[in-house]
Amino acid sequence: MSLRCLITAGPTREFFDPVRFISNPSTGKMGFALAAAAKEAGWTVDLVAGPVSLPEPAGVMYYPVVTAAEMHRQADALFGPCDVLIMTAAVSDWRPAKAAPQKLKKDGQGMTVALEPVPDIVSALAEERRADQFLVGFAAETEDVEANALDKLERKGLDLIAANSVAGAEGAFGSDDNKLILLGRNGFREVLGPAPKAVVARQLIDAIARLVAARAAS
Ligand code: C5P
Repeated sequence: MSLRCLITAGPTREFFDPVRFISNPSTGKMGFALAAAAKEAGWTVDLVAGPVSLPEPAGVMYYPVVTAAEMHRQADALFGPCDVLIMTAAVSDWRPAKAAPQKLKKDGQGMTVALEPVPDIVSALAEERRADQFLVGFAAETEDVEANALDKLERKGLDLIAANSVAGAEGAFGSDDNKLILLGRNGFREVLGPAPKAVVARQLIDAIARLVAARAAS
């Protein structure tokens, strides 16, 4: 089955002056591996990525962004025609409430930066989804991995969530290997890996293809 998918990857940056930002250690490896695996499976791929240092996967439409607001706008523009959304991006959960127009001068004093929540991109897209679209989220957890991921599956209106532990030595950020626990509707549960991200990515694309086909047939 040839599907059109929209994949988000990497971190976002949220600036409080022109040269300083808050972000997270996401490298985009998992999202890029998924883009390559989806392409390999014959899917049409739109890849929206925050700042990463990875080569663009061949044969995909690539949309680089920096902030969560830019990622939201770009994902929103591409969401309509997609069959599958895979939201691997580690979107910043907060952003500075104000950004100084010029570089802030240091004066030897401490500083407090007020943060405001960043709107949840995947939840917003889930609200405008068509019933035939398939939405996949990622949950990076440091504790109670499955319980927290199941809560996100429900709360964000997803069809499938790929949970991984980012605690300690098992951590997924920047690593070449990953282990994912897939949790879906009606008690669906499947464990992928631990294995190189390229292998896990192919298995995840395969699992999505099976779930989409099963839903279409029901
Ligand atoms: O709540 P948490 O950030 O752990 O949820 C992770 C999932 O939600 C990921 O799929 C992530 O891409 C998505 N997300 C989002 N917009 C945000 C924060 C997270 O779409 N502002």
